[in-house]
Amino acid sequence: MSGLPGLLDTEAIRKDFPILDRTVHEGRPLVYLDNAASSQKPRQVLDALADYYERHHANVHRGVHVLAEEATALYEGARDKVAAFINAPSRDEVVFTKNASESLNLVANMLGLADEPYRVDSGTEIVITEMEHHSNIVPWQLLAQRTGAKLKWFGLTDEGRLDLSRIDEVITERTKIVSFVLVSNVLGTHNPVEAIVRRAQQVGALVLIDASQAAPHMPLDVQSLQADFVAFTGHKMCGPTGIGVLWGRQELLEDLPPFLGGGEMIETVTMSSSTYAPAPHKFEAGTPPIAQAVGLGAAVDYLSAIGMERIAAHEQAITGYALERLCRVEGLRIIGPVTPEDRGATISFTLGDIHPHDVGQVLDEQGIAVRVGHHCARPVCLRYGIPATTRASFYLYSTPAEVDALADGLEYVRGFFG
Ligand code: ALA
Repeated sequence: MSGLPGLLDTEAIRKDFPILDRTVHEGRPLVYLDNAASSQKPRQVLDALADYYERHHANVHRGVHVLAEEATALYEGARDKVAAFINAPSRDEVVFTKNASESLNLVANMLGLADEPYRVDSGTEIVITEMEHHSNIVPWQLLAQRTGAKLKWFGLTDEGRLDLSRIDEVITERTKIVSFVLVSNVLGTHNPVEAIVRRAQQVGALVLIDASQAAPHMPLDVQSLQADFVAFTGHKMCGPTGIGVLWGRQELLEDLPPFLGGGEMIETVTMSSSTYAPAPHKFEAGTPPIAQAVGLGAAVDYLSAIGMERIAAHEQAITGYALERLCRVEGLRIIGPVTPEDRGATISFTLGDIHPHDVGQVLDEQGIAVRVGHHCARPVCLRYGIPATTRASFYLYSTPAEVDALADGLEYVRGFFG
């Protein structure tokens, strides 16, 4: 199957990822298909982290000594790299956070604290979707409970797509913010941004896009998305854990209030009041995740050198092949779209009435790592009347042979459970 069109040279790429060489369960080669939860890290990122700590570490923005200046240059250099990676008009629009959840919570809290015209309060509405990760549900529930705002959402079709048939009733003149996922972490669905943004703009609502499952896998251009905020995380895109990004339009970041207070986010402080530093520093209180940002910068370099278009094409080929192979496994039901063109490289499924935890455990015994459960998006499982799914998710180093191993592994699981 190495003849699939669009495949990357995975033999060369896999040499960059030391962990992919390891074996598990007494010598079984690792088949890592849990990339939607977290990707593995190439040597280039591991080296950048080691080099940072071995040669350049100090706190940033605070010192006049050599190491402080080097660390600051590396940290701010990572911001430049991320800004270029997402085609941000300005580096000052890139806020470093600890993960995508923090980025999403930051926007929810900014809007709760904001003055008009952004303020979310009673009489206003917040719109999300039924396919959100908990990190794009719970912060809005908390905000709605605190302010009296109404929380609304788009439901899902049987095929695993957003039901936008009542878009004008869901997004109304009262809507302050529409927050939705670009690519679902359970269904793999790639959502239609344009229709939602157009309607939000008609009513003057802000748009926040959760791109956690998109940024690692396809070109991400915040200008062409036309949203107001875009959130994603580093560890799913070859970077370290502990680093996330919130991109926001400059004038919004200037207008909106900070959420966390502390060192480095201020201009002046007296005992009675403070003024704040300009964005992005206004939103980065305390010592930031310096090494993690440097590692993310290295990850961005790594992905860019391969090319996001080529990574997207590789994943589409692998996903198409996986859908074809999995659909041939008797009793397997895909939860989500079955067409590779409009979906990401994450495939959730059930296998007859075998519990996903059992499926995952027997696959693991064969060296195949998948995720099982509700994937932090429990409303999706409720919508489709299932307690959980098994989820296989691919990345730039995934191979057709790994897809074969998964399909064969599932046949084995079927046999094992009779
Ligand atoms: N959000 C991650 C996942 O979907 C953890 O697995």
